[in-house]
Amino acid sequence: MQLSLLLFLVGFGVMYLLLLTFALGALSAAPWVPTRKKTRRFLFDNLELRDGETVCDIGCGNAGLLFEALDRNPRIRAVGIDVALPPLLYAMWHRWRGRGRYANLRLVWGNFYWRDLGAMDTVFCFLLPRSYGKVTAKLAKSLKDSARVIVEGWPLPGIEPLREIRQPGGLPFFFYEARQLKAAKA
Ligand SMILES: C[S@@+](CC[C@H](N)C(=O)[O-])C[C@H]1O[C@@H](n2cnc3c(N)ncnc32)[C@H](O)[C@@H]1O
Repeated sequence: MQLSLLLFLVGFGVMYLLLLTFALGALSAAPWVPTRKKTRRFLFDNLELRDGETVCDIGCGNAGLLFEALDRNPRIRAVGIDVALPPLLYAMWHRWRGRGRYANLRLVWGNFYWRDLGAMDTVFCFLLPRSYGKVTAKLAKSLKDSARVIVEGWPLPGIEPLREIRQPGGLPFFFYEARQLKAAKA
């Protein structure tokens, strides 16, 4: 086989696998749609990040929310999980470019439904409402009672948020505590 044909096939295979991971995310809980910069800023203008707490974005995409969180408070720990490789690889590159500034950020390639979230103090999710039944069950099972759950876009059905924040022209955020999710699932 000619070298050029081999390289073409390898390149095609890699592209195919990258696109496949995009599709897996879209089918599982939501396609990659990053939170807008203005919305990220609005969230962290309204959220206290405590030193030492662990903040997780389930379905982190390019981890824009977590980079913003670390810019606001470098003494938090941040964990981003995503199944789609292209935005996650971008996030890894951005972390590397930060030269130690984002040393507290762990990026995990995988399915958040299969991950242990027991150490998380705050969990963000920006996912489609069609996934909420499964996501709520996962968070209720996995999180400690006191963990904060912050949902972007649409509220969890049947659970009264402790707080909500809205900005003109942007998606709202709904704040819960994991104990509420556990009570709703019981
Ligand atoms: C709407 S985007 C949100 C991205 C990011 N949280 C933000 O606000 O910028 C949803 C992300 O969830 C990811 N995702 C969907 N289902 C997933 C799963 N089961 N495990 C890990 N990531 C998942 C998608 O790949 C996508 O990047």
